[in-house]
Amino acid sequence: MIGGMETINPFPRGEGPLRIGVLGSGSGTNMQSILDAIAAGSLDARVVCVAADVPGAKILDRARAAGIPAEYLDPAPWKTKLEGPAEARYVEFLKSHGAEVVALAGFMRIVKPGLLAAFPHRVLNIHPALLPAFPGVAAWKQALDHGAKVAGVTVHFVDAGTDTGPIIVQRAVPVLDDDTPESLHARIQVEEHKAYPEALRLLGSGRLRIRGRRVFAVPS
Ligand code: GAR
Repeated sequence: MIGGMETINPFPRGEGPLRIGVLGSGSGTNMQSILDAIAAGSLDARVVCVAADVPGAKILDRARAAGIPAEYLDPAPWKTKLEGPAEARYVEFLKSHGAEVVALAGFMRIVKPGLLAAFPHRVLNIHPALLPAFPGVAAWKQALDHGAKVAGVTVHFVDAGTDTGPIIVQRAVPVLDDDTPESLHARIQVEEHKAYPEALRLLGSGRLRIRGRRVFAVPS
């Protein structure tokens, strides 16, 4: 404790390569960027399982193509959150495959305290905006509609709020005068695909610390 504020070590060194469980709802390009970084040797980790809350989501095809156990898990009865028996199914799936870190990669659903308690300080999310600006859905469109000149991506620890947790990595991109929502999102996604592997690399190094809202890496 320093100044009454606890310093949390979310992934103590010595636990070996990160065993990542991924949750998604869509195309899965961010999960693919994690797989590509692992294959390239720039991220010491394994994706041990992938679950989606949308049947037939492309992220499941991508995972299966890489030989990773991947399942659609029914989130019913909730439309926008993961809670109750559905949440328990997700936790059981992740735990049964040995996941120790959960990466939300385009998972369009609010996770609740049950999942967070099952993986304390080990649930990460990627959000297509420079938080705390533009939380919520279609963040790139929010930035464009607001007239922002800079947009970007945030990878953060998930806490009980929506897109409010401690920030691990941010990367910025310019908003151009002739941008459409699609062109801006595409520019942000290029940076997303660097940011998620970078955040996971930091976590896996065992050097990350969380103190209050601040996340930093201690020297190795
Ligand atoms: C990404 O742009 C991600 O930042 C966003 O969904 C997309 C998923 O793409 N996530 C959110 O908006 C979460 N609030 P992907 O399925 O190709 O990784």
